Amino acid sequence: MSIIEIENLEKTFKVLNRHEGLKGAVKDLFSHDYKYIKAVDKISMKINAGEIVGYLGPNGAGKSTTIKMMTGVLDPTSGHIKVNGNIPYKNRRINAQNIGVVFGQRTQLWWSLPVIESFKILKMIYQINDKTYKDNLELFDSLVKVSSLYSKPVRQMSLGQRTLCDILAAFLHDPKVIFLDEPTIGLDVSIKSKIRMLIKELNARKNTTVILTTHDMGDVEALCQRAVIIDKGKIIFDDQFESLKSMFGSYRTLKVSVDDMSEKNINDTIRIIESAFNQTKALTVNRSEDWIEIIVDQDKTALTDVLSFVINNIHVSDVKIEEVEAESIIRKIYEGGRTV
Ligand SMILES: Nc1ncnc2c1ncn2[C@@H]1O[C@H](COP(=O)(O)OP(=O)(O)OP(=O)(O)O)[C@@H](O)[C@H]1O
Ligand SMILES: [Mg+2]
Repeated sequence: MSIIEIENLEKTFKVLNRHEGLKGAVKDLFSHDYKYIKAVDKISMKINAGEIVGYLGPNGAGKSTTIKMMTGVLDPTSGHIKVNGNIPYKNRRINAQNIGVVFGQRTQLWWSLPVIESFKILKMIYQINDKTYKDNLELFDSLVKVSSLYSKPVRQMSLGQRTLCDILAAFLHDPKVIFLDEPTIGLDVSIKSKIRMLIKELNARKNTTVILTTHDMGDVEALCQRAVIIDKGKIIFDDQFESLKSMFGSYRTLKVSVDDMSEKNINDTIRIIESAFNQTKALTVNRSEDWIEIIVDQDKTALTDVLSFVINNIHVSDVKIEEVEAESIIRKIYEGGRTV
């Protein structure tokens, strides 16, 4: 049964075309010069109860706007949306009972209060009965051993501890759907894997539907059977994560740093690498902060060939090999259709 049904959903923002400077700011006060931004452009999808769906896409793709419509914060411009049978923006209160929300960089908890006091407030707000409340606290502790944290005020917590508590708070009232917006952002490997395990366990035990927004492919890999990718407001992929994986499975990222990071030297280095391999179209080279990033298609050329070329022809100071990041895959899917 579908717990979320979205049909031709659209959200257009009307924003002022702003002018520069003080004169411009005054002009803006009286201006009717608007432009329209289609943040979500006629998307449709159905999500079944108990699914964990990765909702992915580059910055500005429309993910948060979709989530805001699902949580009832924003009204759609047109189209239909139902969460657990309710129209979220019309029945905000009922919808709030059915959902839990976690934003990776913002806490929903009371900053100065010990966590347990926040939990007690949530118990009252959501009218959680004593048994459910007690059972859930026991379950949380059996999964992630957090009870020692409960007396700590949120402001004294590390980001990882706080995120853990935020996730527990969102699950406390047994919501049917949980929205997680970048829950593992900025966290180290060990707490990331703890959080992934927690989400997976709670989903399995309570059959909670999870919509997960992330830029971390590791999250998707660990949690999601299905991935939905949105770009420029349109859904460009909706399928099993496995099929997405098979599309980029052969790709690896080789990161190289050089001593001379001047614009000229970086551009020269990129050109040398590209021209050595451009016949096979096996790689793309970009600058990424302090690294030169080479995305290699191992079906076309061996990673070791690229590595040895780089080491023999360029003065490198450091090298690392990584899986391809979600952003690069999404860019490739968008640029090249589904033929990555
Ligand atoms: N309240 C608003 N008013 C005007 N434009 C907005 C508003 N909210 C979002 N937008 C625009 O809508 C588009 C989609 O934004 P959205 O926040 O949904 O992206 P996102 O996929 O969540 O990106 P990110 O990965 O950076 O969080 C962007 O172009 C953004 O600038
Ligand atoms: Mg967002």
